[in-house]
Amino acid sequence: MVKQRKYVVKKHFQGVPKRDDFEIVETELLPIKNGEILLKTEWISVDPYQRAYSSRYPVPYDQFGYQVSLVLESKDPRYPEGSRIVSHKGWCDHSVINTSSGEAPSGLNAVYKLPDLKGLPNSLGIGAIGMTGATAYFGLLELCKPKAGETVVVTGAAGAVGSIVGQIAKIKGCTVIGFAGSDDKVEWLEKELGFDKAFNYKTTDVLTALKEAAPKGVDCYFDNVGGEISSQIISQMNLYGRVAVCGSISAYNADLLNTPKASILQPSIVSKELKIEGYIVSRWLSRWPEAFADLIKWAKSGQLKTREHVTEGFDNIYDAFVGMLAGENTGKAVVKV
Ligand SMILES: NC(=O)c1ccc[n+]([C@@H]2O[C@H](COP(=O)([O-])OP(=O)(O)OC[C@H]3O[C@@H](n4cnc5c(N)ncnc54)[C@H](OP(=O)(O)O)[C@@H]3O)[C@@H](O)[C@H]2O)c1
Repeated sequence: MVKQRKYVVKKHFQGVPKRDDFEIVETELLPIKNGEILLKTEWISVDPYQRAYSSRYPVPYDQFGYQVSLVLESKDPRYPEGSRIVSHKGWCDHSVINTSSGEAPSGLNAVYKLPDLKGLPNSLGIGAIGMTGATAYFGLLELCKPKAGETVVVTGAAGAVGSIVGQIAKIKGCTVIGFAGSDDKVEWLEKELGFDKAFNYKTTDVLTALKEAAPKGVDCYFDNVGGEISSQIISQMNLYGRVAVCGSISAYNADLLNTPKASILQPSIVSKELKIEGYIVSRWLSRWPEAFADLIKWAKSGQLKTREHVTEGFDNIYDAFVGMLAGENTGKAVVKV
């Protein structure tokens, strides 16, 4: 019998998630049946949507999330023993997946073989060559549609999605400006990732900074954070500018009935005829392999740098999660189980 340890959310988060909102539960997994695989988790992802989506599920619920795992035992020839897969089984150390449930994959129930990473670390399967990378790739290329020579601004720039967005925009020949939450992150963006300019949004006047760094205005804005900084960036956009609204982490810990207020956007949207579109990355689920092929190619050639903030140990996932929400990570926050 294989034992499973898993994180169960027993109380809905209020403000910053608390340690005792979770309980680690131990259960015994039943022997697998035809169409099932037994997995040992190797890498677990901590992500902002695990905070943002909490109120959607009745408690108690098993903490969901992406993971890379090793197939220990298989009764599905598509996923042989010893192979590695990516699934959304969440914060558990072992699990059983019925790979033939018949449900249409939605992103959250997707199970797929870890792509051939050509020697890159397996952990990238939940980061730059996983949901995170696909989010950056499709949000930027399908919604912002940046053209060479244009100016792209990204917030949350030193995080998992933002750091990939900025680098893809550079690959596409754009001028890239990033906003992130510490001087060390700013230095990394400018010196290591090749951003043309980066600012610490906690210590900079955003409008003044943008007017200097983008004197001809902003063509594309990749919005990871929402709130007032986004209103300020959108006020600097050029005619027919494009905004991909990826997330609004600045408000994820806010009281849902009393969310922060920001300056109105309509004057800029109307006068600059902006296109602003929100999205969920699973819209392009069937095309994720296309993103992964490009991302692997760029990572192998050195055009794309993939930094990870690794926390060790199953018992430390909570700390990794709240640390990521507080901005401790540069690059993708992952947990090595
Ligand atoms: N639409 C989709 O399908 C999709 C998919 C994946 C992710 N997302 C969204 O993309 C965004 C980034 O996600 P990620 O996985 O790449 O996380 P991440 O950026 O690696 O980590 C979160 C970062 O958010 C920043 N942050 C925290 N509080 C903030 C605040 N009040 N204002 C501004 N920044 C704050 C912190 O960096 P600083 O030090 O810079 O503050 C922190 O490192 C999130 O909004 C997430 O929900 C959307």
